[in-house]
Amino acid sequence: MNILVVDDIATNRKLLKVTLEAEGHTSLEAADGVDALKILAHQTVDAVISDILMPNMDGFRLCHALRKSPQLHALPFIIYTATYTSPEDMKLAQTVGADKYITKPAPTSDILNALREVMDKKAARPMPVAAPVEEAYVLQQYSQALVNKLEEKNAELAEANQALKRTEERLRALTQRVVQAQEAEQGRVSRELHDTITQTLCAVLLRSQVLAGKLPAHNKVAKGEAIELCEMIGKTVDEVERISRNLRPVVLDQLGLVAGLHDASTEFTNQTGVSVKVDCVKLARRLPADTELALYRILQETLKNVEKHARARHVIVQLTKPGNIVQLTINDDGIGFDPDHHPAKRKGRGGLGLLGMRERATYVGGTFTVKSVRRGGTEIEIRIPVPPGATAAESTHL
Ligand SMILES: Nc1ncnc2c1ncn2[C@@H]1O[C@H](COP(=O)(O)OP(=O)(O)OP(=O)(O)O)[C@@H](O)[C@H]1O
Ligand SMILES: [Mg+2]
Repeated sequence: MNILVVDDIATNRKLLKVTLEAEGHTSLEAADGVDALKILAHQTVDAVISDILMPNMDGFRLCHALRKSPQLHALPFIIYTATYTSPEDMKLAQTVGADKYITKPAPTSDILNALREVMDKKAARPMPVAAPVEEAYVLQQYSQALVNKLEEKNAELAEANQALKRTEERLRALTQRVVQAQEAEQGRVSRELHDTITQTLCAVLLRSQVLAGKLPAHNKVAKGEAIELCEMIGKTVDEVERISRNLRPVVLDQLGLVAGLHDASTEFTNQTGVSVKVDCVKLARRLPADTELALYRILQETLKNVEKHARARHVIVQLTKPGNIVQLTINDDGIGFDPDHHPAKRKGRGGLGLLGMRERATYVGGTFTVKSVRRGGTEIEIRIPVPPGATAAESTHL
């Protein structure tokens, strides 16, 4: 037999072609109903196996068109679909005059049986002309089938959205736990460093200084070595203290956000040589601890990015309080980047910095915005609502 395979997906057509040809049949391929009608106008075909959902003209319409054609009304027509499988779809297939309805993916034997069945049916009694079907009726059935499909898809979509929302919520809670655990661990390491290593180093420094003092002046080499040792220990103490401070911002805890922002900025300038101008509104009262910590950590992370990526010369840190919102803005005059297409994002293993900052801001009820253009610098803005009365802003700036 020569079978016309109609399907908009080339792989599906090839699969059927191989199956049919393995059984000694020949086949022709069409990508949709219109394509199929063009082929049928010039070629002799024994049967059609057609998908339903296709562009231009779908399987139902193709079948209906054939049944109305004086030459092709008796052509055996098998619907082979994965998308339309409800009882209404099957009924519609019957209404338009299809001989058989099978669902994808079907085993080869089902396809061959279906072919045999429709050919036997045709041979036994010449196919009657399909009962004239009212075009309006077919269209109504057809649009009803579409409406049902649409409703089904909408319900699926709504369910998928809900699932996505639940996953996002779980992920957010998990991220929060990770951040909290990280802060707790950093605090613990910071205290250990401060309470044990720094204290021990200070004792070593003191003894070294005593030793250096006791060494006779004429033993210049030994005395010089001892003094150098003292200096090295002194530098190590400073470095351990710096690491400890970075791990747990004691200044933030004890002196508040404004002092913390100044401290982080000074530290950054000392480390990198990039100038940071800090301009903060004076806050009459402390902000909630998690808000302060979020803003402080976001500044630290932003400064890390400036050091790593921006090639900036100046940074401006501004803390303002428009109404009941506390706003932190960090500007750099560096090379900028495209926030939607930065290299880390393109490689599919985006950095965690910006993501973590956004999460931190979101967790304390705030918003996080990145504005950046290539060669135009970068601005990070965090706005966090604070309960009225929790703080009172004054007009003077520190
Ligand atoms: N201030 C900036 N100037 C220029 N480019 C920036 C700046 N901040 C971020 N970027 C760009 O945005 C990307 C993402 O930043 P993000 O902090 O999320 O990741 P990262 O710094 O690459 O890695 P991580 O922070 O996880 O160590 C960076 O790789 C960089 O290309
Ligand atoms: Mg980063």
